[in-house]
Amino acid sequence: MDAEISPPQVVARVKRLSADRTTAFLELRNGSIATCTTPEIWNLERGDIVFVDADNGNVEFAPEELWDEEPWVGVVRLLSSGQVIIDIGGRLKILDEPQDIDLREGNTVTGYESRGITQVISEDPVRYIDLPTVDSVTVEQFKASPDKSLSFEDFGGHADIKERARELIEVPLEHHEALTKIGARPIKGVLFTGLPGTGKTMLAKIIAHRTDAEFYEISGPEILSKWYGQSEELIRKIFEDAAAQERAIIFFDEIDSLASQRNEDSHEASRRIVGQLLSAMDGFTAETNVIVIATTNRPQDLDDALRRPGRFDWEINFPPPNLDDRQAILEASARNLNKGEDLPHSKVAEKTANWTPAELAAIWSEAALLAVMDSRDAIFQDDYLSGYERVAQHRKRIALKLTDRAAGNS
Ligand SMILES: Nc1ncnc2c1ncn2[C@@H]1O[C@H](COP(=O)(O)OP(=O)(O)OP(=O)(O)O)[C@@H](O)[C@H]1O
Ligand SMILES: [Mg+2]
Repeated sequence: MDAEISPPQVVARVKRLSADRTTAFLELRNGSIATCTTPEIWNLERGDIVFVDADNGNVEFAPEELWDEEPWVGVVRLLSSGQVIIDIGGRLKILDEPQDIDLREGNTVTGYESRGITQVISEDPVRYIDLPTVDSVTVEQFKASPDKSLSFEDFGGHADIKERARELIEVPLEHHEALTKIGARPIKGVLFTGLPGTGKTMLAKIIAHRTDAEFYEISGPEILSKWYGQSEELIRKIFEDAAAQERAIIFFDEIDSLASQRNEDSHEASRRIVGQLLSAMDGFTAETNVIVIATTNRPQDLDDALRRPGRFDWEINFPPPNLDDRQAILEASARNLNKGEDLPHSKVAEKTANWTPAELAAIWSEAALLAVMDSRDAIFQDDYLSGYERVAQHRKRIALKLTDRAAGNS
């Protein structure tokens, strides 16, 4: 059997009928209006979809789906003398009050451009998710003011780490032009790896201050929670701002919280953030004098895409301090304290194998408390040793809790 194909027909929507229903104004898809006066229009209603025969002006009903229309959602703001004011995403619209729907102010309703309100979908107003806007003021919040009191002298031990950090961050930022002239591939990303409290953030801040670089601090968990939905935009803006500076460091703390291997389970939001971070780094030009430092406690979990050449292809590992480092850290973190002579640094260093620098530094806070409770304004040997004891006890309690939890006795 031969297929039958009808001649092409024009689809239109009834926009308005004259009061005596003898004339219909039909809206065509291109926005133009046709008038129609044939007898068939007597049973038409506003909003109906019809086929129009352009030759003889005949009109017949067409399926509604041929005029697919996006519904709108809005909140009833005011009901007054047969009319309704609807707030559709901040835009006010005035419509006729429908006869067959019981409306109250505050209702959330849906409807169509052509048919007006069709349904109440909630008795209460729909709430917009109030996404914070990302603008230059927002970007300012991520600029950490450099702690001018911090210097390399405060960072005890780990001479090799300091040297490597200088080479990978300070030298490229300060000699950007010379390096560009040589034409070597620029250093864009440096990954700081190491356990919590091993000085990653501290060193990044010291370097930012030394090189007089603008320092942007972004925390992985925070960008996921607080900036959810806008994190990509935020990253883009921060990188833009950084690129406009003479020198800048973008510090991405706890990057593993977003950039773990992007497998199927990984969160869609993290996936997009990492994508944005990578494309921002790929977009650096020869003039961009920005180094991105990212820290992680779990480098093995990082997405391989981050480690490709031209991204985070340099790594500085912050190991637990050895005996000499511990002594240097103890001395460095007490550098500006009011204290007595001949404190037993080497003795404390010997007792603190496997302690992190943060734990070592905490001894001084405890010691200072003990000194003031004893009405003194300087730390002496006894305070120091008792401070050590207190932090040691604290470590033991935490270790116990962890073993307990591992054994399932939480
Ligand atoms: N080399 C060091 N010399 C002196 N103090 C140090 C050193 N490293 C760390 N500290 C002390 O430990 C504290 C914590 O260090 P920091 O915040 O840099 O650790 P982190 O590696 O960034 O840890 P996390 O992974 O938890 O963010 C510092 O504020 C400082 O008091
Ligand atoms: Mg840190």
